Amino acid sequence: MGKRIGVLLSGRGSNFEALAESMSAGRIPDAEIAVVISHRGGAPGIERARARGIDARVIPSRGLERDAYDRQVVAVMREKNVDLVCLAGYMRLLSPYFVKEYHGCIVNIHPSLLPAFPGLEAQRQALEHGVKFTGCTVHFVDETLDAGPILLQAAVPVRDDDTVETLSERILIEEHRIYSEAVRIVLEGRYRIEGRRVIILNAAEAAKKHV
Ligand code: GRF
Repeated sequence: MGKRIGVLLSGRGSNFEALAESMSAGRIPDAEIAVVISHRGGAPGIERARARGIDARVIPSRGLERDAYDRQVVAVMREKNVDLVCLAGYMRLLSPYFVKEYHGCIVNIHPSLLPAFPGLEAQRQALEHGVKFTGCTVHFVDETLDAGPILLQAAVPVRDDDTVETLSERILIEEHRIYSEAVRIVLEGRYRIEGRRVIILNAAEAAKKHV
């Protein structure tokens, strides 16, 4: 049976769409997006998912404790038999409960070379700090913000005339590329974790891992 992805998003949804495109184009084989969930009713990503015929649900978070909210989200993920949870511009920290339920099976994309510039407006932080290179990171998710073991990164040079917009645009191209690549690696089990290090395996090494 193919692998089933659950996507959590809060906004635009371009990373969600890049993953969906990669699945249709065979760049992520034997996988489908089983459900997209947002806490925000107005998230354009929800409309984009529905336009693709994907089950897209809004679960409002207002007035709920983090744990109570996450129990609802996890229930839907279970109902849809989700194997891997992909955060794609999801503006909420996950509860310990969620992280435990899907331990090692949650990934996130962040628009900086972590551990530099975690949190909000990473591109603005990079520009204001004056770094010459920034980029993006796909990492496993734990209970700490933008902190789990790093799967893939891509570097993007900062130009002297960059604005937050132009820099974000160039980073986004790399986000879409490495997110698909990382999701494929995870679904194929082509990695091994040593401490904080994620070692990417080739197909032969991955086959040995499963024996
Ligand atoms: C991306 O820059 C992602 O790295 C960050 O939030 C943004 C979401 O963009 N976590 P989109 O909704 O995927 O277009």
